[in-house]
Amino acid sequence: MTDAAILTEKLTKHYGSLQAVHALDLHVPAGSVFGFLGPNRAGKTTTIRLLLKLVRPTAGRAWVLGQDVARGSARFLAQVGALVEAPAFYPYLSGRDNLRVFAHTGGYPDQKRIGEVLEIVGLADRQRDRVRTYSLGMKQRLAVAATLLNRPQLLFLDEPTNGLDPAGQAEIREIVRALGQAGHTIFISSHLLHEIEQICDHVAIIDRGQLLRQGTVAEILGEQSALRIEADPIDHAAALVTHLTHITPERTADRQLLIRVPRERAPEIVQALSAASVRVYQVVVERESLEQVFLRLTRAEALTRDEARTRDEVKKT
Ligand SMILES: Nc1ncnc2c1ncn2[C@@H]1O[C@H](COP(=O)(O)OP(=O)(O)O)[C@@H](O)[C@H]1O
Ligand SMILES: [Mg+2]
Repeated sequence: MTDAAILTEKLTKHYGSLQAVHALDLHVPAGSVFGFLGPNRAGKTTTIRLLLKLVRPTAGRAWVLGQDVARGSARFLAQVGALVEAPAFYPYLSGRDNLRVFAHTGGYPDQKRIGEVLEIVGLADRQRDRVRTYSLGMKQRLAVAATLLNRPQLLFLDEPTNGLDPAGQAEIREIVRALGQAGHTIFISSHLLHEIEQICDHVAIIDRGQLLRQGTVAEILGEQSALRIEADPIDHAAALVTHLTHITPERTADRQLLIRVPRERAPEIVQALSAASVRVYQVVVERESLEQVFLRLTRAEALTRDEARTRDEVKKT
């Protein structure tokens, strides 16, 4: 457990009959930038609230920074930063003075830290200006700065780019990337796939409260790689590939096959084709984007659900 910043075991939160979070097993490695990806109402915010001890689980357990969330005094919260809801700033105070208020109420008297966090989020040159004059993106960066005041080991960011324009989103991504490189563990939720793909090294995909996949971004993308092979004669090639891999390739174009196997199998397939005197013109490794994986998984999940419902209805009749 020492290498896990967050660990959950069948973590569950039901609201009446609604399974907001159901039997979630998460493993967030220390030092990772962990993307928590899911469509609206998937259960992302509820999970984060469970991990911050803001709501009580219906069942299951969670450990944050090695401490059991349900037990004891939640000491781990002192080493955690969180941006779950937009914090309220005083519009007539400067960015710097707002952070002083936060530092004071949070019990972090270190004034030097205020300058540091303003630097990290790129607001040092606007720190004396009233928050009233800030753009939405600047307010959000100030909110991130506030979460950093206590030098957290672990940072929760719940959809931090929501509502921002593309430039504002890119600024937040840059900050997250820099914080990750500085060694913070970051748990960031999003429904934006490209965002997670760009800044995270690990990802969990959830939908309707349930975990669909979890792993490194490379693993999740790699598991769905495919080989596109251009060869002649193509029928012979298709037969050989089917025999070798037990997977029927798709015919995508004249003289082209698409085979859903990991790239590691490319040499053996090419060798077998050559040995059978099939001429291989081109081999391309194709990877699904995280977006395609996500859509495929959530669609598959919806299909399974529909099937189950149909079965239930058949049973009832
Ligand atoms: N306090 C609550 N009472 C009842 N239902 C809730 C409550 N909080 C969240 N939910 C429901 O739980 C589901 C998951 O919500 P949430 O965790 O906010 O999803 P996300 O953050 O992924 O959009 C939604 O259907 C939401 O309506
Ligand atoms: Mg949410």
